[in-house]
Amino acid sequence: MSKKIRLGVLISGRGSNLQSIIDASKNGMIDAEIAIVISDKKDAYGLVRAKDNNITTLIINPKEYKSREDFDKKVVEELNKCNVDLLLLAGFMRIVTSALIEPFRNRIMNIHPALLPSFPGLDAQKQALEHGVRFSGCTVHFVEEGMDEGPIIIQAVIPVTDNDTIDSLSERILKYEHKIYLIAVQLFTEGRLKVEGRRVKVNKDGMKHTVYKDITGDTVLINV
Ligand code: GAR
Repeated sequence: MSKKIRLGVLISGRGSNLQSIIDASKNGMIDAEIAIVISDKKDAYGLVRAKDNNITTLIINPKEYKSREDFDKKVVEELNKCNVDLLLLAGFMRIVTSALIEPFRNRIMNIHPALLPSFPGLDAQKQALEHGVRFSGCTVHFVEEGMDEGPIIIQAVIPVTDNDTIDSLSERILKYEHKIYLIAVQLFTEGRLKVEGRRVKVNKDGMKHTVYKDITGDTVLINV
């Protein structure tokens, strides 16, 4: 029986990935509970989602800190107060520094709406469409210094059609973001992830948890 790990979630906006994590922690899809949601934007809709579910929230205003490092140190202080085991960036639109990454090395994940290392940064779906790729998708990775950088845990591949717009592609990718983030969290919870250099080795022995069914049970390729 795996223990419930404590999650910290950093957001900047809508919070649909946060919502999927909230739902999954409540219905047992993942063996984890959200200890705190922190936003760098006071009007992030994700804060409403967290409050509606009685989850502790905190707004940390970047303008009140002299540097990115000082902001990140404050985030770490708050996460430590809540005994956070695993930190999730879920639409957190800030570059994070070593001040945040080091204390959470290999315990901090990010989700990005592209097949990294293609199209990091803002507007990944627009970048992919403009580049004319035939496949895009989404990636969950451990966070290292750099924009959307770090060892890849899981990716879902989504075909791009001739009729796709930024909105239609974003919507299709988002559906799989919500699936693969849960899988990555559960893999961590069960101690199945081992970082070796740039590669993440996944121990797939006896994977029975329901959250894993999408790995094989879907026409869109999800690979861990
Ligand atoms: C998601 O598509 C996420 O992958 C992306 O921001 C969106 C947040 O949506 N993150 C990045 O682009 C990180 N570089 P959400 O607030 O509804 O979860």
